[in-house]
Amino acid sequence: MSTAKKEYKRVTVKSLVDMKATGEKISMLTAYDYTMAKIVDSAGVDVILVGDSASNVMAGHETTLPITLDQMIYHASSVVRAIYRALIVVDLPFGSYQSDPKEALRSAIRIMKESGAHSVKLEGGKEIKESIKRILNAGIPVMGHLGLTPQSIYKFGTYTVRAKEEQEAEQLLEDAKMLEKLGCFAIVLEKIPAKLAKQVAESVSIPIIGIGAGSEVDGQVLVLHDMIGMTHEFNPRFLRRYLNLYEEMSTAISQYVDDVKTQDFPNESESY
Ligand code: KIV
Repeated sequence: MSTAKKEYKRVTVKSLVDMKATGEKISMLTAYDYTMAKIVDSAGVDVILVGDSASNVMAGHETTLPITLDQMIYHASSVVRAIYRALIVVDLPFGSYQSDPKEALRSAIRIMKESGAHSVKLEGGKEIKESIKRILNAGIPVMGHLGLTPQSIYKFGTYTVRAKEEQEAEQLLEDAKMLEKLGCFAIVLEKIPAKLAKQVAESVSIPIIGIGAGSEVDGQVLVLHDMIGMTHEFNPRFLRRYLNLYEEMSTAISQYVDDVKTQDFPNESESY
């Protein structure tokens, strides 16, 4: 291990549970490549999610469904090489765990072995209970994901807020308790009413990380490219943009094009 690596106290699944117990909020962001992951890690983010949102953000697909296990492993291994401190969670992509628990375990093992990541995330509740159990039994930490689960977008039909009706809210609460009981170390709750998210966070002892789930949970997650404004078409209410990189990068790139055309670049000091 390098000296640099020794300077950092790594975030572990245990430290996240301790953070919940002491009331320290957990910060989580996505990253899909080495350069971005290095910035995110050194800025002090606790958890880096190699999300299947790479399907949208990196590959330009309309949904998260097309991304493959091999592609997730490629993204995850790039992120792993950049990280000194953060806990790395990798999404099991659509089609790699829904058919049967043995396949789910094989997929999770491939992610852990081939990327060096620390844990996996799966979307769903009771319908994937057996798969989660099998992965946990192999010693692989699992993060759950309830509420709006983008891999089921064609079942939902829209990306609107989930669990507004009592029956769905009750099922979500039950699923969260089940995930805790199975041994998941945390749960992402996506786009559900803040009141329900608070109720879930108070009902379980594992951390609840929200995205569009209000402030009364144990941590927050956003897609990096959205929060730094590299994307600009996607504007949900829950998204706070900390930069407008789309504009800034466009201006810089246009300037470069002008400089090349007018032979302003390179100048004498930039030449050999
Ligand atoms: O893939 C992803 O980026 C996610 C977050 C939205 C939680 O699952």
